[in-house]
Amino acid sequence: MSNVKLELDGKTIELPVIEGSEGEKAIDITKLRAETGYVTIDSGYGNTGSCTSEITFLDGEKGILRYRGYPIEQLADKSNFVEVAYLLVFGKLPSASELAEFNKLIADNSELPEGVKKIIDSFPSDAHPMGVLSSVTAGLSAFYPELLGAELSASEQTKAIAQLMGQTKTAMGYFFNKTQGKTPKSTDANLDYSTDFLSMMFNKDGEVDADVAKALDVLLILHADHEQNCSTSTVRNVGSSHANVFATISAGIDALWGPLHGGANQAVLEMLEEIQNDGGDYKKFIGKAKDKNDSFRLMGFGHRVYKNFDPRAKIIKKACDVVLEKLDVKDPLLNIAKGLEEEALKDPYFVERKLYPNVDFYSGIIYKALGIPTNMFTGMFVLGRLPGWLAQWKELRESGARIARPRQIYTGATERNYVDQNER
Ligand code: CMC
Repeated sequence: MSNVKLELDGKTIELPVIEGSEGEKAIDITKLRAETGYVTIDSGYGNTGSCTSEITFLDGEKGILRYRGYPIEQLADKSNFVEVAYLLVFGKLPSASELAEFNKLIADNSELPEGVKKIIDSFPSDAHPMGVLSSVTAGLSAFYPELLGAELSASEQTKAIAQLMGQTKTAMGYFFNKTQGKTPKSTDANLDYSTDFLSMMFNKDGEVDADVAKALDVLLILHADHEQNCSTSTVRNVGSSHANVFATISAGIDALWGPLHGGANQAVLEMLEEIQNDGGDYKKFIGKAKDKNDSFRLMGFGHRVYKNFDPRAKIIKKACDVVLEKLDVKDPLLNIAKGLEEEALKDPYFVERKLYPNVDFYSGIIYKALGIPTNMFTGMFVLGRLPGWLAQWKELRESGARIARPRQIYTGATERNYVDQNER
């Protein structure tokens, strides 16, 4: 480890440099305040490393995304979602028997406690599914007191992970069927994760087209982890207080809900529909997105870290074509999306700012073709991102990390005396 020298107020201090396995470098400022009285400030944490991690590597300039070293393109092509979940959580590709065991553990722990079903039953049918998912996840804590301890054994940890993957899937299917006035179907241990999900959602009794289930599986793989984004950092922040895993994941779900993050997939579809209802003139909306006096943003465009292309978006575009062809869906929104993309990619505003379609730009069109309602799109992101959150929570807890506690620079009023009510 080398050091860098920093000159501050006429004093030179040395700060250690940390180097990652892919050559990324960071200046360790842990002791900066104690030695100089200074903190660093970095709004939105755009240049702040909050941890070291062995889970996911991404290089936004080169469009690289790898889980545990394996390129996303290979995983999307050759793996399946549960195998990827195992890889993220346990750090290695499972043997056939390890994978079968993990699949079984998820299946065996997929049923919802009756009390949780009652909680879901009590939500209005137009409740936003993200609020339902977040409540259900926090609510699960009430039913598994043995999993609430700050220090879980390895087997308890694995059970909690499998359970959250299984029960979230079931909760989505259960809530959707309830909103449709239908009797929710139970999970089927003989089906793979994505087939079981589609089967539960649409009461298919396992008869789900294999290509369609594969396309969904690919989508889930692409969403499975993305290092220290807003929701994952939330998971790490909450987990660092030793809050239980259900509360921790529930917080991640809430962070994901926003339209600048996972909520963008819903926002993209709503935007495409708005353009369609407005007559389909997408160039007009490009103009609105560029207008600084207009709050409209091109949803599904831009990314904090990808500045060339989002490797996930490339794969999704292909999956989108497969699903639309297989289901024989001719969605006019696809033409609007393609038009917007084409137009934006040659527009200097987007080119200069390096704004490209992100993972959410085409995923909504796939979800729509699958019959998933628009307000459930972000819930689909939750299903995909769960293994990543769980892997990051596990890594955090095993690393013995300190509680997250950023500093600030106070810019409010300096000391003043209290003024009585009748004198204000
Ligand atoms: N439409 C129009 N202008 C944009 C957009 C957009 N979608 N995104 C960024 N800009 C402009 C922004 O106005 C700013 O311009 P200027 O430099 O003139 O002030 C410049 O590009 C840089 O933007 P920023 O807001 O500083 O970028 P950020 O890194 O803080 O935000 C982002 C990243 C993803 C929140 C943003 O690009 C955005 O709001 N995109 C639309 C929402 C979206 O698609 N979110 C999903 C992200 S992918 C899923 C996930 O992992 O969460």
